[in-house]
Amino acid sequence: MNAEDPRRDAPPDLEKARAEAADLRREILRHAHLYYVEDRPEISDDAYDALFRRLQELERLRPELLTPDSPTQRVGGEPQERFETVPHTAPMLSLDSTQEPDEVRRFDDRIRKALGEEPPTYILEPKLDGASIELVYEAGVLVRAVTRGNGREGEDVTGNVRTIPTVPLRLRTEERPAPPFAAFRGEVMMYLSDFEAFNARLVETGQEPYASPRNSAAGSLRQLDSHITASRKLDVLVYDILALDGDGFATDTQGVEAMRQWGFRLPDRLAMATTVDEILAYHESFQADRDELDYEIDGVVIKLDDLGARAGMGMTSHHPRWALAYKFEPRKEITRIEKIAVSVGRTGVLTPVALLRPVVVGGVTISRASLHNREELRRKDIREGDTVRIQRAGDVIPQVVEVVHHDAKREPPFEMPSECPTCHTPVVEDGPRTVCPNRFGCPAQLKGRIVHFGAREALDIEGLGEETANLLVDRGLVHELADLFDLRPEQLMELEGFAEKSATNLVDAIAARKQPELRRFLFALGVPEVGTTVARDLATYFGNLEAIRSADAAALEMVSGIGPKMSDAITAFFADARNTAAIDAVLARGVEPRETEPVSEPQAPADAGAAVFTGTIPIPRSQAEEIWRSVGGRVVGAVSKKTNFVVAGENAGSKLEKAEKLGVTVLSFEEFARKVEALGGTVPSGTEDE
Ligand code: IVH
Repeated sequence: MNAEDPRRDAPPDLEKARAEAADLRREILRHAHLYYVEDRPEISDDAYDALFRRLQELERLRPELLTPDSPTQRVGGEPQERFETVPHTAPMLSLDSTQEPDEVRRFDDRIRKALGEEPPTYILEPKLDGASIELVYEAGVLVRAVTRGNGREGEDVTGNVRTIPTVPLRLRTEERPAPPFAAFRGEVMMYLSDFEAFNARLVETGQEPYASPRNSAAGSLRQLDSHITASRKLDVLVYDILALDGDGFATDTQGVEAMRQWGFRLPDRLAMATTVDEILAYHESFQADRDELDYEIDGVVIKLDDLGARAGMGMTSHHPRWALAYKFEPRKEITRIEKIAVSVGRTGVLTPVALLRPVVVGGVTISRASLHNREELRRKDIREGDTVRIQRAGDVIPQVVEVVHHDAKREPPFEMPSECPTCHTPVVEDGPRTVCPNRFGCPAQLKGRIVHFGAREALDIEGLGEETANLLVDRGLVHELADLFDLRPEQLMELEGFAEKSATNLVDAIAARKQPELRRFLFALGVPEVGTTVARDLATYFGNLEAIRSADAAALEMVSGIGPKMSDAITAFFADARNTAAIDAVLARGVEPRETEPVSEPQAPADAGAAVFTGTIPIPRSQAEEIWRSVGGRVVGAVSKKTNFVVAGENAGSKLEKAEKLGVTVLSFEEFARKVEALGGTVPSGTEDE
């Protein structure tokens, strides 16, 4: 059709258009793969753009042809209010890690013992330091992308991940058919060169730079407006098949090959090894090249290649037994301490902080390092003006390792102040820690509480970072957490860095969190000892805030994982009238934590029953026992009439006989797994992962 054609905007014949769109998509996806993944384009950028525009045109004229896997759908849709939390297909476990070659030897010994005759083959990979992600494909089409979150569930960031060019929207099927269902695990990376350029741009435009490429990748993934994600240069490298329906694989190597064929980009320099020496050599060669790479890695990963053998080894609740991360030495640099300052955190602890002459450590500029506490300062004898070695391991706050040089004439040892640098209350000493006891009147603690309240794992209030919290407190706009809910845009607009839009956004973001999930609200309150896991467990068990507030120590200890130390800290927190007043004030602003059905009556002991394990079961017995306890069960050694059931594996002997004689229920491992699941737990089968 030419430009003069009066019918040029009339919808083309549907079937013809469908065929043309399908051809275009195939071509575009092929060229995009060649360009982004394989780095060997076959056509010019202009020719590619022409194909792309033609497809956009067809889809505009015939919107019914639009499919979610169309390459035109990478550009990002409507901004979202927030991300939904969704469960992972299979738990995204962590890796056990070490820095010691001896640990690697022991790992190899354990594997050899488990395998018996067959000597192990390992697959070796770089340990990528980015943001972990799950990619789910149904019938070959990308349907979901989920951040790692807590390993069991994460945030649905599909719209954002779609914008990353190396993520196939549809698996390639030239060499291998797509499975009906598959979930992959990979790492979202920002290359160092892109990271530097991006940070430079942030600084130029007066914004906070990101601390590391990993933070930058994670932050880019969590943009509510996917156009912003699209504008960031990101890449996804996949390294694991989390779940797969259809033909399975015998080895990881086969899985790797399949992932490559399906169009993913994989980490570079994968290798195989059969001996510890080969593993050590691989580690050494990567460590030597580390600074030349354009991406951050923090070690190498050693994985048993044989998937059947992996299943036999199983996993702990934290990591698989068939893999090990062999980490690099943290990066170290030398710089000078310009000054030692003291910061006060949300719990009142005073932390000495070294203000450093800025130095680049592994691609990241460091200008502060925590000195932890007065004991540490004394032990390492660190003083202002000293030249020190600092190190940065992954994402953790940089540390001062040691003094490497100091002038003959040296500053006197640093003394912790006798009063809080912020509120001037005399400090108290609590072991090695120095604490400001003015919990309710110290502005620094309030600032810390505000940041914590809005943190991602808490109420997740976008825009409520450290700088804003400082301003809110210093300008007298917020005296307690509840005041956050009374903020008006006009007030915020008077603060530096706020314009009408950002002021309204923050007020809206706060208002949008008035019905938080109970676990988030509980964590947000900053109860001592209550991290995200305990908060979740308490919320699940009790179901509502009142029940938690009024629970005594005994009731709290009914929740698995809560011992006397925690229960004391929690009851003490809720017994303090000033805490309850602060909470009541928040509730009075209309905040209603969402209630859930309590999983068990708080009064009744959560006893799932006494179990005996016998025979060979697919996972280590200690792990099965641990799982049973985690869902409120008890584990006993001998079978009696009081035993609720016996889990019998292969070659079960006298205990099984006894159970049968006494009429005690006997469960197979599968039945046991179902029972655990009914109680809200999970049992790794070891086989479903691959
Ligand atoms: S395998 C359960 N391979 O490191 C084993 N993980 O602490 C599945 N990571 O959050 C992970 N590079 O996201 C594996 N080549 C690699 C990796 C890798 C980076 C991440 C992973 C996890 C963390 C483990």
